[in-house]
Amino acid sequence: MLVLITGASSGIGKACAEHLISKGYRVYGTSRRAKFPPEDHMIQMDVRDDDSVRRCIDYIIEKEGRIDVVVNNAGIGIAGAVEETTVDEAKEIFETNFFGVHRVCRAVLPIMRRQRSGLIVNISSIMGLIALPFQPFYSATKFAIEGYSDALRMEVKPFGIKVVLIEPGDINTPFVDNRKIVENRIPDYKPYFDRVMSIVERDERGWFSTRSCCETT
Ligand SMILES: NC(=O)c1ccc[n+]([C@@H]2O[C@H](COP(=O)([O-])OP(=O)(O)OC[C@H]3O[C@@H](n4cnc5c(N)ncnc54)[C@H](OP(=O)(O)O)[C@@H]3O)[C@@H](O)[C@H]2O)c1
Repeated sequence: MLVLITGASSGIGKACAEHLISKGYRVYGTSRRAKFPPEDHMIQMDVRDDDSVRRCIDYIIEKEGRIDVVVNNAGIGIAGAVEETTVDEAKEIFETNFFGVHRVCRAVLPIMRRQRSGLIVNISSIMGLIALPFQPFYSATKFAIEGYSDALRMEVKPFGIKVVLIEPGDINTPFVDNRKIVENRIPDYKPYFDRVMSIVERDERGWFSTRSCCETT
């Protein structure tokens, strides 16, 4: 069983990779900082870049001849009120969290259709079901993935391809520190932003770490 996990350099992706390897799966992971051609099973891929996605998938097919499971995990966060967020900042997170998933799906679907089998696991979030203030565009990307995945699931069922959505709650990973804050802050929002984000971060840092998640499963 050949598994590809995007964003396997840290957090949930890394924990999934380690867990699946320990269960005997053949796993390839991706990171923007890895090398190409890769020195091991960690392949350079930036999900914002068509060529980078295509090159990674082609490499795996050349080496392994198939891809059975894809975990679309690579993702980023952004915090800021709707009014504070520029269109460019909003587009930036959509490029990774939404169009990144679409790029990878478009690259692997012809392979899975040929195989007449495959599993696509899209990592959404509880915030794909419930929005919180001051992360509107993170929520929007995850709400978008929900609708996209539902439609895809129905489209590819005849070809033996399954689509699964995962909606994690808070998991203590580097995601919190990697989350970007929008540049143009409006003072009126600051006290509310600070209060909400301090509660959000306290919960994120206080919940399961990816290590404890793996240990309990
Ligand atoms: N942590 C939580 O509480 C939580 C809750 C719900 C959902 N999630 C979702 O879970 C997924 C993983 O998050 P995490 O908590 O594990 O965060 P993380 O530790 O920050 O990991 C994010 C991963 O995404 C990769 N990545 C980021 N931008 C990328 C790009 N443009 N192209 C390719 N890879 C990229 C990073 O790899 P490089 O930097 O090495 O490229 C890294 O491996 C995300 O989709 C997130 O939205 C997390």
